[in-house]
Amino acid sequence: MNRYMSRHLENRFAAHQDLDDTVGARDGGFRTVVDLALDKYLEEQPGSKAIRSMDAEFKRFAVSQMKVFILAGHDTTSATLYYIFYSLSRNPLALQRVRAEHDEVFGSDLTQTNATITANPHSLNQLPFTLAVIKETLRLFSAASSTREGELGFSLTQDGHQYPTEGFTV
Ligand code: HEM
Repeated sequence: MNRYMSRHLENRFAAHQDLDDTVGARDGGFRTVVDLALDKYLEEQPGSKAIRSMDAEFKRFAVSQMKVFILAGHDTTSATLYYIFYSLSRNPLALQRVRAEHDEVFGSDLTQTNATITANPHSLNQLPFTLAVIKETLRLFSAASSTREGELGFSLTQDGHQYPTEGFTV
């Protein structure tokens, strides 16, 4: 895995070298978190345009972070999607409401959904019922979680309400 990641990093580094500028659109505007890391790395190097290779410490750190992103992001997301479909299959009324909400926001022609979201990514924020389904699924079938211990004098604030945390483990 380290070898594979290093190769990917080297390829992206080479692609950055081919461009005059470290920022701006490339590959049709599709830029990954690796590109963002390389932008920052090059920005921080004195005389970055003359740099032909990455230093070993940066490479080691970047590869390690890439692994975290893949491992932390992949199974959590896919397992959550399975549980969402499972939950909806057991709650036909909720499924109906999700579909109605999607039809309302994206239209009923599925072939146009990608284009609609690309043209207006903020439309994804207009799906309160879908969001509730995702949150309820995460509550019932959390793919990953961590323990937080409450603390005397420490409160959580939401919608103007304060919720004390002492006595709680969440
Ligand atoms: C349903 C999806 C996901 C769930 C349930 C989830 C859950 C969690 C949880 C519980 C933590 C520990 C938080 C803490 O205790 O401090 C965490 C950390 C983290 N997650 Fe996720 N995660 C999800 C998706 C993702 C995705 C898609 C990515 C990246 C592409 C990601 C990257 C990370 C990283 C980098 C950390 C460590 C953050 C740190 O440095 O403290 N996660 N995640």
